Amino acid sequence: MKKFVAIANAAAIAVAMTFSTGAVAGDAAAGKAKAATCAGCHGAAGVSNNPMWPNLAGQKAGYLVKQMKAFKDGSRKDPMMSPMAAPLSDADMDNLAAFYSGL
Ligand code: HEC
Repeated sequence: MKKFVAIANAAAIAVAMTFSTGAVAGDAAAGKAKAATCAGCHGAAGVSNNPMWPNLAGQKAGYLVKQMKAFKDGSRKDPMMSPMAAPLSDADMDNLAAFYSGL
């Protein structure tokens, strides 16, 4: 039983580490090209000039992907941002996240 608990704990830690490191392997250069359409609101360097629009520069890649997916699947809604996320593929999201998290 003790051994089972130890194995279960190790598995839980491994899962937690997978998620905490984000495991996002996007292509930042491709993300930069795609980000041209985002710059109008989020700024060319990922820093917005409007108090209502969030900065994306330096944000964790895993979080950025999660939010873009949420806008796309409708679990997070915003009249400006939801239509922007709708056409993005999973690869686009990984690339955009790699670009913004690296700024
Ligand atoms: C028309 C303006 C506009 C454009 C263009 C736009 N966004 Fe947004 N974005 C917003 C707004 C406004 C929010 C905040 C929504 C809210 O308050 O929930 C947001 C939120 C986000 C968030 C969540 C940030 C956080 O901290 O939770 C991400 C990620 C994001 N945008 C990525 C993008 C990407 C990638 C693009 C280009 C494909 C893009 N946005 C284009 C307006 C825009």
